Amino acid sequence: MTHPMQELRWPTYALRDLVLDAAVPDERGSLRVRDSAGRVYLDAVNGVGCAPLGHAHPRWVEALTAQMQRLSAAANSFSTEPQRRFAAALVARMPVPDARAFIATTGTETTEAAIKLALRATGRNTIVAFERAFHGRSLGALACTANTAYRHPYVRCLGESEPAEPFATARVLRLPFGDFDALRRAFAEHGAAIAAVFIEPIQGEAGVYPASREFLVGLHGLCREHGALVGADEVQSGFGRTGSWSAWAHIVGDDPALAPDLMWIAKALGGGFPIGVCLARGDLAQAMGKGTHGTTFGGNPLACAAGLATIDILERDGLLAAAAAQLPTLQAIAREEPCARVHEIRGHGALIGVQVGKPGEQIGTAVGDRMMRDHGVLVTVCGGHTIRLLLPYRAGADELREVWRAISRSLESEAT
Ligand SMILES: Cc1ncc(COP(=O)(O)O)c(C=O)c1O
Repeated sequence: MTHPMQELRWPTYALRDLVLDAAVPDERGSLRVRDSAGRVYLDAVNGVGCAPLGHAHPRWVEALTAQMQRLSAAANSFSTEPQRRFAAALVARMPVPDARAFIATTGTETTEAAIKLALRATGRNTIVAFERAFHGRSLGALACTANTAYRHPYVRCLGESEPAEPFATARVLRLPFGDFDALRRAFAEHGAAIAAVFIEPIQGEAGVYPASREFLVGLHGLCREHGALVGADEVQSGFGRTGSWSAWAHIVGDDPALAPDLMWIAKALGGGFPIGVCLARGDLAQAMGKGTHGTTFGGNPLACAAGLATIDILERDGLLAAAAAQLPTLQAIAREEPCARVHEIRGHGALIGVQVGKPGEQIGTAVGDRMMRDHGVLVTVCGGHTIRLLLPYRAGADELREVWRAISRSLESEAT
């Protein structure tokens, strides 16, 4: 049967048979949503990691309402107080040294900003990106994304025949994630052309694969040696989800000598309101002169007020520590109540992947559908094999046990 919404929307998503209606009110931010038939679900999709406070946190709603009544739009040829304060708050918390912010609306836009800056600031034409990487779906970001199902047939469709600048023929060199020798060989061969290496410190869409500290430090060293920039795509992993403000700092540590040159963040950043930011080292940001980039909605006062309220609540309520505790808590629950079909539980903090089946086995969407239908838990399956949990940061042992039981019971009922 065709889903009623399928007739109105482009068929770009496999729509699940569920109409989300409202969050179940909760003073600490809601972990549960209600569908149009009144059924309640524990929400581990969370707008794909966009509501770190849970839904409709009362203090977040209050801050947005106050800003809405004050000023709701401003062109980027002006600045606003929420924008200034938000940029300052990010610069103070993220590891990019002496950073300058380009504020956008989505993750993809921030990848685009990072590509432009890397090419301009270095005058080079090659971006290194990794196998399984996801950086967005606009044509520039898509060139860095690995999945052929998303790429085909767009990549290369907007090439120029007579490029005037070296970076008008920019290209992406794709390497295996975590393979330091492959990276070293690529630098030996193409080092003078490599503008930047783009990496998700935790690959999210691919199935929640964290990079090792050793690999990130090695990558950083090679970039420094060859004059290339280090670009950390933290659209999914950043803004407290690991328990630290960035996954980079969580994995690598906060030594400024090992900091990335560029970092872009979205999803959790607005607490549910659309906003993304690309941070670049101050000297590099100078490469983006007037007219080199822009966006109408980026840095909108409402979005910045939402981001500021999110930072305030995350800090005052100790939610980064709560996020950090999620992965070890789930792993402890899994040890108490083992499930043979689960191959691995990995990630950091509140970005968790539960891989099902043998390595290489594809599980499709059936487990997720069963968890939703039979156990009232919403999850996404990514990489075709891994149940991804993106719970609000305050979710604790009770919710994780509920998710775990939904996973194991769904897998058991599938096996019988
Ligand atoms: C690592 C990463 N980069 C970029 C994007 C694109 O972000 P958006 O969908 O907000 O454009 C995503 C989205 O999932 C992502 O996970």
